[in-house]
Amino acid sequence: MTREYVLRCVLMLCFALLSANASNWLYLAKLSSVGSIRDEETCERLRGLIQRQVQICKRSVEVMDAVRRGAQLAIDECQYQFRNRRWNCSTLESMPVFGKVVTQGTREAAFVYAISAASVAFAVTRACSSGELEKCGCDHNVHGVSPEGFQWSGCSDNIAYGVAFSQSFVDVRERGKGQSSSRALMNLHNNEAGRKAILSHMRVECKCHGVSGSCEVKTCWKAMPPFRKVGNIIKEKFDGATEVEQRKVGSAKVLMPRNTQFKPHTDEDLVYLEPSPDFCDYDPRTPGMLGTVGRQCNRTSKAIDGCELMCCGRGFQTQEVEVVDRCSCKFHWCCYVKCKQCRRTVEVHTCR
Ligand SMILES: *[C@@H]1O[C@H](CO)[C@@H](O)[C@H](O)[C@H]1NC(C)=O
Ligand SMILES: *[C@@H]1O[C@H](CO)[C@@H](O)[C@H](O)[C@H]1NC(C)=O
Repeated sequence: MTREYVLRCVLMLCFALLSANASNWLYLAKLSSVGSIRDEETCERLRGLIQRQVQICKRSVEVMDAVRRGAQLAIDECQYQFRNRRWNCSTLESMPVFGKVVTQGTREAAFVYAISAASVAFAVTRACSSGELEKCGCDHNVHGVSPEGFQWSGCSDNIAYGVAFSQSFVDVRERGKGQSSSRALMNLHNNEAGRKAILSHMRVECKCHGVSGSCEVKTCWKAMPPFRKVGNIIKEKFDGATEVEQRKVGSAKVLMPRNTQFKPHTDEDLVYLEPSPDFCDYDPRTPGMLGTVGRQCNRTSKAIDGCELMCCGRGFQTQEVEVVDRCSCKFHWCCYVKCKQCRRTVEVHTCR
């Protein structure tokens, strides 16, 4: 081995480690108090940011609270979308928040990157529309009368600002020296796919004005889809994600489907480089790999939430659990509702 070769390997390893931590900014979600990022000094102390993100933080301190909310939104949505899967998106109190699961180029990592990039774009755009930020407000490029005859007005969501902020803040970790590593290309692609899930599903919302709700005058504005919808779209992309590998086309390095029979992925699809582990067993050497012992499962389902697949064939235990519901509610004039408490037992199945 030549010295140069050794040096290059060391550099590549170094990049692999940096790249592996590319989602560390999600650690911002662990900051508890709102308005906790107030001045440039705070930016220096935030854990999980790389130097260039610290610089962006200093330049845009007022936006950082929206970024923090975005990180929380990403984690909550991931846990909702994966609640019935073996890996349920549980977080650690350390970095990276999803443990080792996202440091490999798997489908799960693809989802996490896409939902995170989308959540920052979403939260920043929301902050713009709500008038919370000086740097941005509503989108005033949308105005006048539409071809359909309604009046554009109100506050159109300034998605362009949110997307641009997400591109600079979230993607910065993948840019620079190691830009052409396959993992960096995978992350950049999935970040962009996540933001597209908002951009391609912008909607028009309207309000009618006129005598007793007649629609003589209609004013409309452009609005983002609810974040749950964005999560659903990205989850669908997760289910249909394409396994890719890096190829050289001319002098450029690009990601192409590993199976050449498959049609190439689009900008909105998710891509991954490595097959996922089975997530069946707890592994103390792999942070975040909790296994499925103790997870609830559905006895009758044949899908991944069913006891057969969820418990990886280990079997399950059944317990009778008493649940208390409100029932026989009566409305009393005026104005309260009185309910009885009903008890019923349900069977709960958990994996051995
Ligand atoms: C995920 O599953 C583990 C058990 O494997 C459980 O302890 C944890 O509370 C679950 N997390 C969420 C977010 O549902
Ligand atoms: C269990 O799975 C069945 C079949 O998929 C479904 O109809 C049922 O609602 C599920 N039960 C629970 C408690 O989720």
